[in-house]
Amino acid sequence: MRNHKISLKEIVSYAKKYGFIFPTSEIYDGINAIYDYGPYGIHLKNNIKEYWWRSMIQINENIIGLDTSILMHPKIWKASGHAERFKEIFLYNKSKNYSYRIDFLLEQIFKPNSKGDNSLCKKLWQIKTKKNNLKKRIIQYIDDNIVLKKYKKILVLVKKFKQINKKKVQYKWNYIYEYKLMFQIYFKKQTIYLRPETAQGIFTNFLNVQNSRKLKIPFGIAQIGKVFRNEIMARQFIFRMREFEQMEMQFFIHHKDEEKWFKYWKNKRLIWHLTIGLGEKKYRYFEHEQLAHYAKQAYDIQFNFPFGFKELEGIHSRRNFDLKKHEKYSKKKLRVFDKENQSYYIPYIIETSVGIDRIFLAILSSSLKIEFLKQQAKRTVLKINPYLAPIKAAIFPLIQDKRLIAYAKYIFTSLKSSFLLTYEENDSIGKRYRRQDAIGTPICVTIDFKTLKDKCVTIRYRDSMLQKRVLIKNLKQEIKQETSINKLLTKFFMLASTK
Ligand code: GAP
Repeated sequence: MRNHKISLKEIVSYAKKYGFIFPTSEIYDGINAIYDYGPYGIHLKNNIKEYWWRSMIQINENIIGLDTSILMHPKIWKASGHAERFKEIFLYNKSKNYSYRIDFLLEQIFKPNSKGDNSLCKKLWQIKTKKNNLKKRIIQYIDDNIVLKKYKKILVLVKKFKQINKKKVQYKWNYIYEYKLMFQIYFKKQTIYLRPETAQGIFTNFLNVQNSRKLKIPFGIAQIGKVFRNEIMARQFIFRMREFEQMEMQFFIHHKDEEKWFKYWKNKRLIWHLTIGLGEKKYRYFEHEQLAHYAKQAYDIQFNFPFGFKELEGIHSRRNFDLKKHEKYSKKKLRVFDKENQSYYIPYIIETSVGIDRIFLAILSSSLKIEFLKQQAKRTVLKINPYLAPIKAAIFPLIQDKRLIAYAKYIFTSLKSSFLLTYEENDSIGKRYRRQDAIGTPICVTIDFKTLKDKCVTIRYRDSMLQKRVLIKNLKQEIKQETSINKLLTKFFMLASTK
């Protein structure tokens, strides 16, 4: 059996054809980088969420769930730093009718080996960064100047860079503008924002959770929800969207345990991804040099998408950055009591944050196969973990015979309260198998004339295409064993407790 390597373009057209993902508002020509989940996509997405949710709040007795609002008080985004820092600065060049992102531009203009060393260069080199990173140093310099002098300095800065590297720069700048990454809406004449991360809803409920559940450090709060970002370059299908969904867990700890818990969650989150079964080689860690404004330490779990290794999940040490800021802006104490020292302190936070849509794309891109079978036959098959499959089993009468149809419908009805099933009687059995393979249904059940006598059905497995006879009274157990979430959760629990 030969396999064909799937491109991103093929995944996009597969997702539409088989009802997984549609471009939003398509009949009105769509909106860039926003998608709708179709009749099979919604089940796959919900199954991913259910697995994450249960492996957080069911497997860990010290992690609880929350569902906070998308619209929040605008002060939250001032306190969190998003209002000031979650934006990009652009320089517009009229003659070229093009906007340049300031950090990319400066990186392009200013090279470390530039001979035109002047006081500005020296200043840049003096700015200390964790890894002596040049780009970070420049951005830091710009950040400081923006905050202090509001943009005018940038033009001066760019002029100086021009002097440093004359040949490379022939731009004439017309104006500078800010590109805000948070979507704004208006409520009672004030600007409010669509949340760009779910985390702030957890931080701002810290006191309520503490008081209602009497939790002791260390403990975690998990949340799944929609977030919105006005991405500058939204692309690569559902990899970078403007409306997407996050699954985040904030783990509250004592600061002396920061290293221990950071390592713990970095390890546990990779194990969780591995249990989905896409292959160990598809994942790697990546340590961040350029940290988000709230993070003190950050690792990505990257996945090998059809366009290369890219961020799948982020593990961040946010320390007490957020709670400290919310204390300051809300004037409410967000602390826990330390019995040992008989004093209150603001806990540190280790965050795990992953986009459901990216897991979805990782699963589709690794599990979708075009297989070339014997006698020039070909099948499209979605070889996903059986629990994640949108439909758990398909029930067929072998042919359109009244007795077989009645029997098949009886079996379908008796099992449908236990599993999401589908019933089909059109076309040949071969065509029905192909349709179910393509949407990832792990089991097909066929009722034939022998069934009427021996009370057995034929089960056919998606991946191996092997078939076996099973007594009808054992069918429920067979499907359950193959497709239940418990199998996946147990695997995760076993691996996570040993590694
Ligand atoms: N609370 C921390 C936070 O939001 P992030 O690294 O900006 O951190 C976390 O985002 C995760 O959200 C990423 O690892 C990615 O899986 C997902 N994500 C971020 N931007 C996205 C986008 N535009 N489209 C889809 N998923 C995105």
